[in-house]
Amino acid sequence: MEGIKIEKIFLLFQIFCIISNRGGNSYAVIESVNESRKFPDKFLFGTSTSAYQIEGGWNEDGKGLSIWDTFTHEHPEKIADRSNADVGPDSYHRFDDDLKIIKELGSDFYRFSISWPRVMPTGDISSLNKAGLKYYDDVINKLLENNIEPMVTMFHYDLPQKLTDIGGFTNPLFLKYFENYAELLYIHFGDRVKYWITFNEPFDYCHPGYGEATYPPLIESDGIANYLCLDHTIKAHAMAYRLYRMKYYEKYGKIGKVGITISSRFYFSKSNDESIVDRGMQFMLGWLAHPIYSKAGGYPEVLIEEIGRNSLGEGRAWSRLPTMSEDWKNLIRGSADFLGLNYYTSRYIEYVESPKGKSPSLERDARINATVDPQWKRAKSTWLYSVPRGLTGLLGFIKDQYSNVEVMITENGFSDDGQLNDDDRIQYIKDHLNAILDAIDQGCNVTAYTVWSLIDNFEWVYGYTERFGLYYVNMSSPNKERIAKKSAKFYTDVIKSHSVSSNL
Ligand SMILES: *[C@@H]1O[C@H](CO)[C@@H](O)[C@H](O)[C@H]1NC(C)=O
Ligand SMILES: *[C@@H]1O[C@H](CO)[C@@H](O)[C@H](O)[C@H]1NC(C)=O
Ligand SMILES: *[C@@H]1O[C@H](CO)[C@@H](O)[C@H](O)[C@H]1NC(C)=O
Repeated sequence: MEGIKIEKIFLLFQIFCIISNRGGNSYAVIESVNESRKFPDKFLFGTSTSAYQIEGGWNEDGKGLSIWDTFTHEHPEKIADRSNADVGPDSYHRFDDDLKIIKELGSDFYRFSISWPRVMPTGDISSLNKAGLKYYDDVINKLLENNIEPMVTMFHYDLPQKLTDIGGFTNPLFLKYFENYAELLYIHFGDRVKYWITFNEPFDYCHPGYGEATYPPLIESDGIANYLCLDHTIKAHAMAYRLYRMKYYEKYGKIGKVGITISSRFYFSKSNDESIVDRGMQFMLGWLAHPIYSKAGGYPEVLIEEIGRNSLGEGRAWSRLPTMSEDWKNLIRGSADFLGLNYYTSRYIEYVESPKGKSPSLERDARINATVDPQWKRAKSTWLYSVPRGLTGLLGFIKDQYSNVEVMITENGFSDDGQLNDDDRIQYIKDHLNAILDAIDQGCNVTAYTVWSLIDNFEWVYGYTERFGLYYVNMSSPNKERIAKKSAKFYTDVIKSHSVSSNL
């Protein structure tokens, strides 16, 4: 049975390749073949946002500063359009507008994040801000009144500035601060929230924030502080998970799930050397996923060896990759009920004999050169090429490496200029949904799909120049109306039919 399925998929892939090589419309064939394919009944569909990107209300009702407030205020030159999210789509005052469109889509759940400095202005429980808690209470209650499951991300880049002042993610005390923050959320919202995500995309705040100094807190310490940031993130995640299981899982009816969201590309080998794929994947997904989801636990062997060897070669006394003690390994291994996966794009890679990057750096440790296929369709974002089969490959890799853990796809999406006729976004979502159906056919344990994003919002250092929303928002309009793009209608049909058969 499985053999037959694999053959069918391989055939599809061949057709895809032949047609895309001709440069024609490569999708027509796949579409017609997949027309009748449905998602499992229990499969969930949702949309996603994050606090800093949509809320506005940056200094209202007692909210403290986050590192994105201070960064955008002090360094407008580092943002493509010199903008910030002081107001943005203004969801702090307009959640009812968001709710209206979440309902219109027919979503099963809504993934949003809590702004740590809105509920704890200094990052510490001593600064508890009741007005902040009330805002999220209202959001959660209104979602539930409308049968929409809240999925809460605890941390989505906006660290309290006060915690960064004492070292942020590189301070070992961060672990305790985070555990304390997580407990506040469990206590206040745990009776109603069933899906918890501790951290969103650790790679994407640790490397730019503590390695390359392109994101706040602008620490340039590649190969050192970025690795420490990842290490402390994994440990803080595990502590928050264990706390939930120990004190709140039973109390709240044994239905809550806690996970972490990891972003990953999939890699294809540029040459005949398939071992490079594993190396590349361990240096990305595996860095975070291996300690939490593998049977063995701890960091992937290849990281321990390579970073250890390079560190000694640089004349250091210890490895730049922090050591994980047996106690930590045991605490971290198995510390998640699902894997939250953000997937956008993939690359071809090859091994680099003599890396040229700075010493030390991730580039030198990983020794991979990533390139794109010029035939891949690119989004507005320069890094985002549409590679749906990479998602199938990635889900297969997760299935094989991590005992087929439950995967909730917590982000997937496409950027453009914000036009209402967003056919490229529709095509992207359609192709990725088909890629997920392929993975489900191969036995992958995928249970949810989330579009990034519900509405146009502040895209970090790209400001408002790249739009990911299913709904358009004119940031200069006084009422910030949420206007449905063509893709909103498309996604509504997907959710309703549990299939990708729409002709839109
Ligand atoms: C990576 O590959 C590109 C394209 O083949 C090549 O131009 C570049 O020199 C390579 N970089 C390294 C560090 O090998
Ligand atoms: C999918 O994940 C769930 C939750 O971890 C698990 O109980 C189930 O056995 C998994 N399914 C498969 C087919 O492995
Ligand atoms: C956005 O809103 C402003 C203010 O109402 C208006 O002048 C402008 O034309 C709008 N832009 C678009 C693209 O609708």
